[in-house]
Amino acid sequence: MRVPSNESLDAGGAEAAPAPVAVQFVHGQVMQRKGEHLAIAAQENVESHVGAGWRDVHLLHEALPRVDLAAVDLSVEFLGRRLRAPLIISAMTGGHPAAREINARLGRAAQRHGLAMGVGSQRAALRSPGLADTYRVAREAAPDQLLVANLGAAQLVPQDSGEPLHPEQVREAVTMIGADALAIHLNFLEEVVQTEGDRRVTGLREALAAVVAEAPVPVIAKETGAGLSRRAAVELAGLGFRALDVGGLGGTSFAAVEAARARARGDRRGAGLGDIYRDWGIPTAVSVVAAAGTGLPVIATGGVRTGLDAARAMALGAHLVGVARPLLTAALEGETALDVWIERFLEELRVAVFLTGGARAADLRSTPKVITGETRRWLDDLGYLG
Ligand SMILES: Cc1cc2nc3c(=O)[nH]c(=O)nc-3n(C[C@H](O)[C@H](O)[C@H](O)COP(=O)(O)O)c2cc1C
Repeated sequence: MRVPSNESLDAGGAEAAPAPVAVQFVHGQVMQRKGEHLAIAAQENVESHVGAGWRDVHLLHEALPRVDLAAVDLSVEFLGRRLRAPLIISAMTGGHPAAREINARLGRAAQRHGLAMGVGSQRAALRSPGLADTYRVAREAAPDQLLVANLGAAQLVPQDSGEPLHPEQVREAVTMIGADALAIHLNFLEEVVQTEGDRRVTGLREALAAVVAEAPVPVIAKETGAGLSRRAAVELAGLGFRALDVGGLGGTSFAAVEAARARARGDRRGAGLGDIYRDWGIPTAVSVVAAAGTGLPVIATGGVRTGLDAARAMALGAHLVGVARPLLTAALEGETALDVWIERFLEELRVAVFLTGGARAADLRSTPKVITGETRRWLDDLGYLG
């Protein structure tokens, strides 16, 4: 499947009904951005230069495994639902014509493998209902799976780009895909770098508390690549969030993605900032420990690339791991590539459970581990292990 080129995106919006010119520009801009994110994430090197910290986490080998490799049970419970494996296809897309097929492929893979799945930010469809289909297709493809709706925290407060989303729209995002949970993404690093980013935060905490209180499903707080500190995690827990997706440093860098977009449009400020902040954030391994300290269920996302990474994340306290970019590139290649990627990943995870003497994936959460190197240094300096 071809990813959208910027030229093909210039063709214009898929508005359901004519909107005032100024508004139409903003809506078209959101859709164009979605296409650019897909193209850049698929084609350019946008991984952070800094690792997520997995290499510093050593699991203890058990020379006497306890159950047959094939009998290892990867299933886990998350927010009251059972998944066949502790993996969520992370929020990526929707709101662009090309996103429809990608979400359909990802949804079918989630259904085949019994995984959870998130859709990308639904703001585009709330403002242009004609695009709702590009998200809804995920539910059609994955009728039985835990599906997570997605909205940006920055869009919950007034911005220069427009009015905040109101509670009715938040409910609409959930019903649009029959979601079992809602993720509110915290992406202020991206907003800062993005040429047209939303950089106001006045009233943010009150807005988050209101969304959590009024949403018809559990709400997950989700960073998108800069990670969560213990302080942020505790504050989010206090606001009533039911789970934390740490979205740490070590995988896709949205500073790098926005730098590429800014460069293409001649925005030197965005390009320069994106380059400088490409590796900004808290590594995913450190973020998992920070978030696990709240007692809330934790999703480890950001640079999870193998089943062994996933096992290490779970040993640090994660309940699930999230994977985004590798599954996007696999989905663009086709459904077989998606199956191959997921099966390899789950096999690697199964081996880690087997070799640490466990019987179930959840056993990894109490398996002995040694933390070394930079990750140890972060955790010691911040006092997260105490
Ligand atoms: C193309 C693309 C689009 C994304 N869009 C969203 C989004 O709309 N909402 C969100 O919460 N996260 C979004 N993300 C972030 C991912 O969910 C994930 O947190 C991040 O990419 C780190 O995971 P990775 O290193 O496995 O890619 C997007 C990621 C990619 C690659």
